[in-house]
Amino acid sequence: MQSWFDLTGKTALVTGGGGVLGSAMAQALADHGARVVLLGRTREKLERAAQRIQARGGQTRWIQGDVTDAQSFRQALESIGDVHILVNAAGTILPEAMTGPGRSLFELSLEAMREVMDVNWMGTVIPSLLVARQFVARGGGVIINVASMSSFRPVTRNVAYSASKAALLNFTQWLAVHMAQHYSPGIRVNAIAPGFFLTEINRSLLVEPESGQLTARGQAIIAHTPMGRFGEPEELGGATVFLASDAARFITGIVIPVDGGHLAFSGV
Ligand SMILES: NC(=O)c1ccc[n+]([C@@H]2O[C@H](COP(=O)([O-])OP(=O)(O)OC[C@H]3O[C@@H](n4cnc5c(N)ncnc54)[C@H](O)[C@@H]3O)[C@@H](O)[C@H]2O)c1
Repeated sequence: MQSWFDLTGKTALVTGGGGVLGSAMAQALADHGARVVLLGRTREKLERAAQRIQARGGQTRWIQGDVTDAQSFRQALESIGDVHILVNAAGTILPEAMTGPGRSLFELSLEAMREVMDVNWMGTVIPSLLVARQFVARGGGVIINVASMSSFRPVTRNVAYSASKAALLNFTQWLAVHMAQHYSPGIRVNAIAPGFFLTEINRSLLVEPESGQLTARGQAIIAHTPMGRFGEPEELGGATVFLASDAARFITGIVIPVDGGHLAFSGV
């Protein structure tokens, strides 16, 4: 019997593949037979993530590259060869681009805001367009973007991040339609919107460094998550494999929240 979720013979490129969520998504793809290439900036993190995947029997390698730099990404892609699945999981939060204690609206760093937009928005656009050339030539391929709860409604304090993730969701829908209408219905573009997961990107916002207790923001998140906890990175695996696989072959332009009910909850 054919397995809907078998990814044998496919190569998946995961940007931010040394990060917490990117590496968990990569692991799930490798568990289902894909060869996985982890791309990121930090060699040590990539190496560690690749070792974890190999230890579980996955086929993987890593490559250094910057998703905001088309030249760097193009070079990386040339050395990788054919890619069938692109997961755009690189992303950033910069404190200078957030309001909060010690930083009013008028003290936001415009440079930091631009950098957040660059990594989260252009850092998805650049890999997508460069990999899409291969997809068009082949008439098929899958892009999975990593959106956020702030794609739907902005979260407090994090102004540039929220705007970048809203743009990313809009781009997901735009590209899905464009690919199907102008190139091939075999090219699918979707997104996963994680709720709140404790990772390197947000740990200092959610947990007090000294005590390990949740910050007021961390407590507010748990209170607004009906399942009453943060997500575990491997819980993104199911949605990732589903969207990457033939099980989703008539699905394009959607976003799957993996959020413990956060998006559905009105707060009352
Ligand atoms: N943690 C959460 O609760 C949460 C919720 C929603 C969405 N997300 C998104 O998930 C994705 C992964 O984040 P994470 O939480 O695993 O954080 P993380 O910091 O562990 O991973 C992000 C990775 O992106 C890499 N990266 C940053 N800029 C890059 C660049 N220019 N080129 C290449 N790589 C770059 C970083 O080195 C890092 O390894 C991000 O897009 C983030 O916005 C996270």
